[in-house]
Amino acid sequence: MTSKEIRRQFLDFFLEKEHTFVRSSPVVPLGDPTLLFINAGMNQFKPVFLGQSEPVAPRVVNTQKCIRVSGKHNDLEEVGVDDYHHTFFEMLGNWSFGDYYKQEAIQWAWELLTEVWKIDKQRLWVTIYEEDDEAGELWAKFTDIPDERILKFGTKDNFWEMGDTGPCGPCSEIHYYSGDDPAHQSASGVNRDPDYREIWNLVFIQYNRQQDGTLTDLPRRHVDTGAGFERIVALLNGHQSNYETDLFIPLLRQIVKLTGKPLDYKAGVPHRVIADHLRMLSFSIADGALPGNEGRGYVLRRVLRRAARFGRLLEMREPFIFELVDPLIEIMGEAFPEIIDKKAHIKRVIRSEEISFGETLDRGLEIFARLSAELKPGGTITGKDAFKLYDTYGFPLDLTQLLAREKGFSVDISGFDECMQVQRERARAAGKFTRIDDEREWTVVTKGPASEFIGYEQTSVTATIRKYAQSGEQLDIILDKTPFYPEQGGQVGDRGILKADTMRIVVTDTFKTGDDIIHRGTLESGNPGAVRTVEAEIDTERRTRIRLNHTATHLLHKALKMVLGEHVNQAGSLVSPDRLRFDLTHFEQLSRADLKKTEYLVNAEIRKNRSVKTTVTDYKSAVGSGATALFGEKYGSSVRVVEVPGFSRELCGGTHASRTGDIGIFKIISESALAAGVRRIEALTGDAALEFIQTQESLIEKVKSRLKCSHTEIPDRIDTLLEQRHALEKELETIKKSGQADVMADLLTHGESIGDVRLVVIRLENSGDLKELGDIFRTKAQHRAVALVGAVRNDKPMVLCAVTDDLTNAVRAGEIVKQVGAQMGGGGGGRPHLATAGGRDIKLLDAALEFGAKLIREKLQKAAD
Ligand code: ALA
Repeated sequence: MTSKEIRRQFLDFFLEKEHTFVRSSPVVPLGDPTLLFINAGMNQFKPVFLGQSEPVAPRVVNTQKCIRVSGKHNDLEEVGVDDYHHTFFEMLGNWSFGDYYKQEAIQWAWELLTEVWKIDKQRLWVTIYEEDDEAGELWAKFTDIPDERILKFGTKDNFWEMGDTGPCGPCSEIHYYSGDDPAHQSASGVNRDPDYREIWNLVFIQYNRQQDGTLTDLPRRHVDTGAGFERIVALLNGHQSNYETDLFIPLLRQIVKLTGKPLDYKAGVPHRVIADHLRMLSFSIADGALPGNEGRGYVLRRVLRRAARFGRLLEMREPFIFELVDPLIEIMGEAFPEIIDKKAHIKRVIRSEEISFGETLDRGLEIFARLSAELKPGGTITGKDAFKLYDTYGFPLDLTQLLAREKGFSVDISGFDECMQVQRERARAAGKFTRIDDEREWTVVTKGPASEFIGYEQTSVTATIRKYAQSGEQLDIILDKTPFYPEQGGQVGDRGILKADTMRIVVTDTFKTGDDIIHRGTLESGNPGAVRTVEAEIDTERRTRIRLNHTATHLLHKALKMVLGEHVNQAGSLVSPDRLRFDLTHFEQLSRADLKKTEYLVNAEIRKNRSVKTTVTDYKSAVGSGATALFGEKYGSSVRVVEVPGFSRELCGGTHASRTGDIGIFKIISESALAAGVRRIEALTGDAALEFIQTQESLIEKVKSRLKCSHTEIPDRIDTLLEQRHALEKELETIKKSGQADVMADLLTHGESIGDVRLVVIRLENSGDLKELGDIFRTKAQHRAVALVGAVRNDKPMVLCAVTDDLTNAVRAGEIVKQVGAQMGGGGGGRPHLATAGGRDIKLLDAALEFGAKLIREKLQKAAD
């Protein structure tokens, strides 16, 4: 059976049992800084379990893209070594939100496994939580699994928790014996022997784990199940290894083809690592992540580099991993079309990382070889060295560990962490998470549904306070309904005022937690506990500017696609009142001409003054009608489509201009590189654009008035000025030279006479080229003259000695400066008629000149005798 059929059958099975299909959320939880990657199907339903959000339906089925790159059961180092752990996998799940509970979950899982898929019951085992007798009884009563195959385990294995806090409950797991000796199965193998593989986990969510460790009952009970898709596909096709399934075979074949190394080369580990990692990389990049040096980006980089390093084991020195994206799309594009949409982008990002890593890998391997040559067997690589490999040569720590392990060394991890911490603290400016609210204590004012957003139509409303939390002056407050737009989809949150007769709150930020819209601000007066109703009023002037920028962002997105090509996608955006920022997937700098064309297209749309249309529809028909879905956005079953008729159509929850003409003007103010394959554009609209243009204009006015010309003459005027400056510089040079000539001529008349020889000794503070000066001196003097000139150049003392030709036998300039230079802690030399020397210490210059003069006098004396 193909993987596509199996996925379909799972979904169909639960659709028939009145479940509603929900798309996988992106693997990158862009809105949640606490979570690096989606690691379970239930992540997107956490607010539902906690009662913060209403489910789309009481019963849901999905297949969730998950990434697990760390944790006790998924050490990255193990991936590819065994044949059933992955960094990326699909989790099939069925869900009940306060609807059915244990019985149906158990019954249906058994029915699907044994009746639809006809899995051999003789190989199945079931585990339950030791305190959950009810589950045991249900298994016994509603399925035909033998009693001795129902095993009890403790908290570690059968009490599922999503993290230190949050929804949790007892679970019941189904395990499959995949070994080749079914006659000798034993209960003792379950949860111990890797031949017994967990294939499905049924979690009965009923508690919330609090910060202090205690469990509180949730308002309702839920079912959260997760079945490992890859394992099930392997099992149903009689394979031991997930890599033998059609989910991996085309990838492995392509690796063999590209590298020429057969599947059993090095036990197939490199092939498996690369195939596994390629899936993780492709899906996370498709959902908006990029390799980088921090957090999520660093995880991507690590995974990519691990794959590249295994590529080296296959003797691949050139980028090749990106060439696996095509077969991946063949395998998974139908179920997850985002990888088709983002194909070119995924390939480019992977390829460019491969290239940049290739460059550092060799250097790093050399350094590693040197480090390890200095170590005794069993030695430890210091944290500092490991950090240097990381920081300078891009070696992820686990790569260094891998290399170390191969040579029997260990790595000082805590030393590495310390270096990392120091660097992080240095680098991290303001990236603090201020919105994490798990510890906030809410005071409930009134009960009832909360956070209805009415801000598309209204800018103020009379609202009822549902609850608030206070910390000093800062107040977080939730209303029954609100015109305040919470930050999302790149659009910043609204600001404004909440006021009652006795109270006034200035709202400085609005954001979402689950379905709750939180207004954060300062309490200026009054007591929110004593008030039930407030006038909620947004800053409309600010909102208007945001709306213009948001619509302009859509126009920009479309215009960029038209100018640069369809590969352009939004990789991020910021829509604020002051400006808009748009990150796009594109590989080169945008030319001036492309930027101009883009501006032109956007402004032309503005002038058409179309009315912006918003409609609410379902996801399928929206995307079917050509609307652009963005990276990483999570779309519910109904979506909002924002359309500029005849131009752009995007799924978007933001607030927009009524007509494009309201934007007024659109002006790009910068274009820069953001990351490999991503460019950033900043632009202004309306008043801000006008102001920008006016500032530029006044700048030109100033230039005009300084240059005394019209604006069209500016470039010519500047050219003329530059030419003039060049000419003046030349002239100055000549004058300087002739000035020096004058000085020397002057000096000749003043110098001392030694017999019939004139000796000039002088210290110049501002000299030109010393040798040139020497030439001038010799020309002026013609015969029987010697000059010793001291000067300072770049804070160092210099001396020149020039001798007319008729005296070079008596006084050899080269010898003189050599000795004088030595006096100043330096040296020098040259020909008999002209030589220079330099020294170290200016303070020694005068004494050195004196010394030199004496030397010359002696020489002249000697020649005369
Ligand atoms: N939430 C459960 C898990 O991740 C199904 O295993």
